[in-house]
Amino acid sequence: MKLLEDRIKKDGQVLPGDVLKVDNFLNHQVDPDLMFAMGEEFARLFQDEKITKVLTVESSGIAPAILTGLQLHVPVVFARKHKSLTLVNDLYTSTVYSYTKKVSNEISISKRFLDADDRVLIIDDFLANGQAVMGLIDICEQAQAKIEGVGIVIEKTFQRGHELIAEHGIRLESLAKIAALEDGKVVFEKQNN
Ligand code: G4P
Ligand code: NA
Ligand code: NA
Repeated sequence: MKLLEDRIKKDGQVLPGDVLKVDNFLNHQVDPDLMFAMGEEFARLFQDEKITKVLTVESSGIAPAILTGLQLHVPVVFARKHKSLTLVNDLYTSTVYSYTKKVSNEISISKRFLDADDRVLIIDDFLANGQAVMGLIDICEQAQAKIEGVGIVIEKTFQRGHELIAEHGIRLESLAKIAALEDGKVVFEKQNN
């Protein structure tokens, strides 16, 4: 998606450890017009899949997920990383290991908001090692919900998340694909469409 690539070129900062900082429009300050355009694009890509629910993980997945749910006219559920006082029983939970932070976290979704009738679109801000998405896939499998696809804002194709999703036979659509972060510069995958 050209609009997003242009924004990454303009505002993205390459940090040590293959990390792209995009807190000017995605991870801290959020650009609603850009989120709206991305929601339109995800909705267009998955328009034929009869999606009933959009799933993400708090916090940075919520903005693109909401704008996608807005276009598809379906509810958006975000997995929680911390158990709330009102969220104790009847949860689907999965353990997510962060290679970046070297810690494991539990994510959970109430059984009330996901079931075997659902056709799910998973949305997230970044795809790196794919552990957050794998946690959501695990939760969908527990609920016997059907996963129609994964939509990612920024994929780092040099990490292995996309391989894990492909191993599950799940369709993956990424709006920006980064092949490398070199010498402070973002190298995008060559587009063949
Ligand atoms: P994974 O989910 O693909 O396995 O990613 P990993 O464990 O490596 O990353 C942990 C956190 O860092 C995730 O956010 C993920 O979205 C984010 N992340 C991964 N690579 C990048 C990057 O290059 N730039 C930025 N800005 N973030 C990256 P999180 O901990 O779930 O936080 P949040 O959703 O509350 O923001
Ligand atoms: Na995220
Ligand atoms: Na993040």
